[in-house]
Amino acid sequence: MKQRSTKAGPIGVFDSGYGGLTILEKIREVLPEYDYIYLGDNARAPYGTRSFELVYKFTLEAVKFLFDQGCHMVILACNTASAKALRSIQQRDLPLIDSNRRVLGVIRPTVEAVGDLTKSGYVGVMATSGTIISKSYPLEVAKLFPEISVFGQACPMWVPLVENHEFDKPGADYFVKKDINRLLSQNDKIDAIILGCTHYPLLLSKIRAYTPNHIRIIPQGDYIARSLKDYLARHPEMEANCAKHGDCTFLTTESVDKFKESAELFLGIPIEVKQVVLD
Ligand code: DGL
Repeated sequence: MKQRSTKAGPIGVFDSGYGGLTILEKIREVLPEYDYIYLGDNARAPYGTRSFELVYKFTLEAVKFLFDQGCHMVILACNTASAKALRSIQQRDLPLIDSNRRVLGVIRPTVEAVGDLTKSGYVGVMATSGTIISKSYPLEVAKLFPEISVFGQACPMWVPLVENHEFDKPGADYFVKKDINRLLSQNDKIDAIILGCTHYPLLLSKIRAYTPNHIRIIPQGDYIARSLKDYLARHPEMEANCAKHGDCTFLTTESVDKFKESAELFLGIPIEVKQVVLD
């Protein structure tokens, strides 16, 4: 087992690309005092249409990289990675790498909130093909809220629209409208839609435009931020390992200029970006 430093380090936030920025932003609103490293594997996004084995391989590479940067805790700010890689990493890899480090996902904290968000008991989930095929949402909801029915809709074009900076352009309307109509045609009692992909809040204004007003749209960021705050309060030993200077470092596997331009637009602040290689 590789011994890593016990020095306090940043909290790692990982996504296949830009989507995790929607989670990071909410986490930093609630927990601004901590240091963060954001890592986007933009060069290999999207993950949503990739095999279980590849998503697991890429995610494990990212987690190990972030541990090597001094992170004691990594948030998989990606539903696809949470659905396909989290359990294997937690159960198989972490004990071999360092059992004191933690990797947390975004599906469970989102599902925990669902009970309060639907009146009808019929909930839609829009996500990548990988997340929908994994059935992670219906399985997790069934454990906590067996009375709630879940209907999933894969939206394979939505992540490419965001990664290619088309999320606010007229071309996005066609795919957003089509996939929302497909979801709603599955059951007319759906009254809440979970955006089960961290990229999707970047399409929020279009999603709202094509969703009837009585249906609640649920981005995940607030729930993940709240859950992390709660986790740190319940685990003082982990909290003590988190550096607190309010710093944030941005890393991408793609071009620095491309990441900087898009991320600055999403976050509304200037940032420094470094390119890294994962293997
Ligand atoms: N943000 C990732 C998620 O939450 C997108 C996955 C992808 O790259 O397709 O699932």
